Amino acid sequence: MTNLDLRSDTVTRPTDAMRQAMMTAEVGDDMMGEDPTVNLLEQRMAEMFGHESAVMACSGTQSNQMAVRIHCQPGDELLIHSTGHICNFEGGAPAALSGVSVRTLGGEGGMLNTDELNGMIRANDQHFCRTRLVCVENTTNIGGGRVYPLQTLQEIAAWTRQHNLHLHLDGARLFNAIVAADYSAATIGSLFDTISICFSKGLGCPFGSILIGNEETIQRARRVRKLFGGALRQSGFIAAAAIHALDHHVDRLVDDHRNAQRLADGLRCLPGISGLAETIESNLIFFELAPQLGTAVQLAAALREHGILIGPMGGQRVRLVTHLDIPNDSIDRIIGAVSDQISSGFSKQPVLGRGPFSK
Ligand SMILES: Cc1ncc(COP(=O)(O)O)c(C=O)c1O
Repeated sequence: MTNLDLRSDTVTRPTDAMRQAMMTAEVGDDMMGEDPTVNLLEQRMAEMFGHESAVMACSGTQSNQMAVRIHCQPGDELLIHSTGHICNFEGGAPAALSGVSVRTLGGEGGMLNTDELNGMIRANDQHFCRTRLVCVENTTNIGGGRVYPLQTLQEIAAWTRQHNLHLHLDGARLFNAIVAADYSAATIGSLFDTISICFSKGLGCPFGSILIGNEETIQRARRVRKLFGGALRQSGFIAAAAIHALDHHVDRLVDDHRNAQRLADGLRCLPGISGLAETIESNLIFFELAPQLGTAVQLAAALREHGILIGPMGGQRVRLVTHLDIPNDSIDRIIGAVSDQISSGFSKQPVLGRGPFSK
């Protein structure tokens, strides 16, 4: 039986059609600006979001940190939700790569709002760092796979403009938000100074991200990308995968969202599972396991024996992610397997190794 890997949407393998697109890509030296496929992708993404320019990056971490470096000087501070990827899962990069400190804020579902932001700008005084940047994550990851309402984004954008701050969007899963919400790419583009988007999550590419912004910002981003070791040569092979994904893997994200909702609805009925949202807004599901059943790591180890991989998040918390390699007809098998483990007392089985970890 094939494995069903729900630890993350980063685990997808390129489809045959994507591999074919990569194989036949026209390529050149991108650092000389001569890779036609990279140029096409960058132009397409800039136009889609109503910006002047875009630059491909190796990873979401790299494109986010390029943005931090562009918008801030050493000694500056950025504002971000306490669950944000940029401050929790990028190896301390704001401090390590840009000398930037981070101030974390609250807000439901990993989402900032202007009530949280109000009063958080440091006074202009030699004692304090300068508040320079606000970072938003859409969809939220650890915040619960939530999709920002347009009005909240508009309010945050107005607030940052009013206070002369920069606004960056970590849109690792932005296309999930766009297919789930009632806003267009151009509307989102008009609100942010820079947008980072990953091709290697729901869109199913092997790697690659992009940073979008105005011409001057992206010129500076190219210098930073080089500095961070991310300027590549014949990267058109990867750009071709991204172009294929834009053509074939965006609309189908609604299937992942529907599957996530079905999965959540099935799991909600099982004894000892709690904390599942009624409405699943994108492709991420989080739940809590009752302590008397066992830990999330124990459940993950038991399910692995049956070819199902889940993401223990520490303690009782579990994350499941639907994606391109989780077919519609696998949802009942997953619910059935979790149900079987709960009724058979999975915590009595020994855990070999540390168990999988995914954020
Ligand atoms: C919200 C968010 N931002 C950024 C990233 C970073 O992407 P990468 O793993 O490609 O560096 C991730 C990866 O999981 C993410 O979930």
